[in-house]
Amino acid sequence: MNNQLRTVVQAMPKAELHIHIEGSLEPELIFALAARNGVALPYASVEALRAAYAFTDLQSFLDIYYAGASVLLQEQDFYDMTAAYLKKAEADNVRHTEIFFDPQTHTARGVAMETVFNGIHRACQDSPVSATLIMCFLRHLSEEDALSTLEAATPYLDKIIGVGLDSSEVGHPPEKFARVFARCRELGLHLVAHAGEEGPPAYIESALDVLHVERIDHGVRVLEDAALTARVARERIALTVCPLSNTKLRVFDQMKDHNLVQLLDAGLVATVNSDDPAYFGGYMNDNFIATFEALPLTLAHARTLARNSFEASFLPAEQKQRFLAEVDAYFAAVPA
Ligand code: ADE
Ligand code: ZN
Repeated sequence: MNNQLRTVVQAMPKAELHIHIEGSLEPELIFALAARNGVALPYASVEALRAAYAFTDLQSFLDIYYAGASVLLQEQDFYDMTAAYLKKAEADNVRHTEIFFDPQTHTARGVAMETVFNGIHRACQDSPVSATLIMCFLRHLSEEDALSTLEAATPYLDKIIGVGLDSSEVGHPPEKFARVFARCRELGLHLVAHAGEEGPPAYIESALDVLHVERIDHGVRVLEDAALTARVARERIALTVCPLSNTKLRVFDQMKDHNLVQLLDAGLVATVNSDDPAYFGGYMNDNFIATFEALPLTLAHARTLARNSFEASFLPAEQKQRFLAEVDAYFAAVPA
């Protein structure tokens, strides 16, 4: 990648649409919160914890990710985690972010729903970055658990813009959550789901047809089904792709094998995102640099990715247009 392209992908205005806030918890903050809350960790040091980040697949990551989240107990812990992520986002010229959080990871440990919502939401309000929240249901748990989570979140629904579906994908197809997503749809919430990360293209199709999601999180396996690829392109269903995550979790062996260029060249509304930046080697700009270094991505692709990120956002039309105009103005000033 030449220096100009590196500067462009770093400096261009962008939106992040796939970030699990619990996945932004850096080892140093995990240790600081463990000390603050008197939580014992099964790792002797920050270095020992970081050394455990050698993942072989999604589940091997999730086991450590849920263990890391066990240090979050007080509202201030959720605030500090979110504020730290938003500072990184701001430094990477992220103008808008739609943040996932997993309340069940916390309520199962006895943390009140109010604590989770208030800490994360207050940090969003205090940041100069536009930040909204998407509450995710854990798909390895039952639909009844998801329904009671939605019920418990009722007093705080004004603090979220939508719901998502994450955690262990294979064996937990979207259909398992048809009723809870139907209820969320009635409530007027935006809908997204992880699909086609490790799971087959059929999960992308059922996320669209059964859950009626508006975006697919990951979705990189869509290219295995030509008819589905054509449909996702035609309907402009965005894919929130997470390149460093995909290589760390062995969805692709190496970045040079990633299909981001093929997704874009197939006319899909692909975006670049960080997923769990503390675990996968970096935040937004690290993902842009890693992909642009390894793949034949161009200045035109950079502009498309920046535009896609705002187009695929759940921002009101007027704000979306304002950010898109900012992207266009940025690229108009880049020498061809
Ligand atoms: N939770 C956090 N990161 C995830 C991912 N990449 N896939 C599924 N669930 C997750
Ligand atoms: Zn994810």
